[in-house]
Amino acid sequence: MMKLGIIGWRGMVGSVLLDRLNECGDLDIFNTTLFSTSQTGRGPLGELKSSFDYDALASMDIIISCQGSEYTKEVHPLLRGKGWNGHWIDASSHLRTMKDVPIILDPINRKDIDAALKNNQKDFVGGNCTVSLMMLALGGLFSRDLVEWVSCVTYQAASGAGSAQLRELFSQIAHLKEMDLSGDILKLEKEVTGALSHSSFPIESLQHPLVGNLLPWIDSEVEDGMSKEEWKGAFETAKILGKYIPVESLCVRVGAFRCHSQALTIKLKEDLPLDEFENLINSHNEWARVIPNNKADTLKHLTPVAVSGTLSIPVGRVRKLSFGPGHYSLFTVGDQLLWGAAEPLRRMARIILDFKNQGLRRDYELSRSP
Ligand code: HSE
Repeated sequence: MMKLGIIGWRGMVGSVLLDRLNECGDLDIFNTTLFSTSQTGRGPLGELKSSFDYDALASMDIIISCQGSEYTKEVHPLLRGKGWNGHWIDASSHLRTMKDVPIILDPINRKDIDAALKNNQKDFVGGNCTVSLMMLALGGLFSRDLVEWVSCVTYQAASGAGSAQLRELFSQIAHLKEMDLSGDILKLEKEVTGALSHSSFPIESLQHPLVGNLLPWIDSEVEDGMSKEEWKGAFETAKILGKYIPVESLCVRVGAFRCHSQALTIKLKEDLPLDEFENLINSHNEWARVIPNNKADTLKHLTPVAVSGTLSIPVGRVRKLSFGPGHYSLFTVGDQLLWGAAEPLRRMARIILDFKNQGLRRDYELSRSP
């Protein structure tokens, strides 16, 4: 049995990963060890190992790290320096900019992943959540090389900022619950808005109120008024596709809990009828599904609440625009902890297992050939 080590399994992405490994029967096909930065003793899968125990790490065939970029920066080069030759699958962004490290999103770039494995590549990295969710939604258009450019406005959940930020959003909601909601509505609005900027309002992690508000800046500034989250949209799309397509983003944090939503304006190289456009999206993968563009279906199926905790990637509000031939708009939602983070990592471990098994089968067949 291949040995799988998981680091950062207590965090949000790691916990979702562990749940998925369990649901999908992966814990029965890997010999899985959990590593901890803070705790030893027994964990949910047996004895915990220290995340800095290099001998224990080096005994793994595959390591999945959901511990964050700082851990990867420190441990990954040391482990490689000690000669470890296993597969490292990372959730954090640190390895994404490295030329030879593929960003894994197998429904989109399985061929490149297989080629990298054959080429003896050992490091793989999950993509930015917004990029992965956008690419799954548009997979049918990208696979036919139809996309000329994409303009993307995001509505990103609090969980994307981290667990402390999500907890603080709940605490902001709880804070407002104490208020007297009767009386004149404009007076009430003034009181609630006043409470958001009062010194007692909890903003330690988010730095700002997120309830009753939105934050049109995510992550640090990179250049020319662009945030790092917006920069990733173009960079990671190009890296996953292996070619540059203009992608411009405006990324906004909203008070959703775990689903990122995106409004996309797309220019295609061809002016396709709407049903053909929708068929391409529906037929590309089993998760992206077009939602009929009417009020009832949209509000039932195309919201963060409807999608939370699922692998669905609904794509709705699909329209041809009046800007000219080939212009379309759509709205899409995805769970940023599932397809946006944990699921591509889980699937990659399976792909590596299949790759190894094929190799063993080939060796076995060769050894038996006359
Ligand atoms: N950078 C994302 C966010 C997290 O801030 O929402 C998912 O990669």
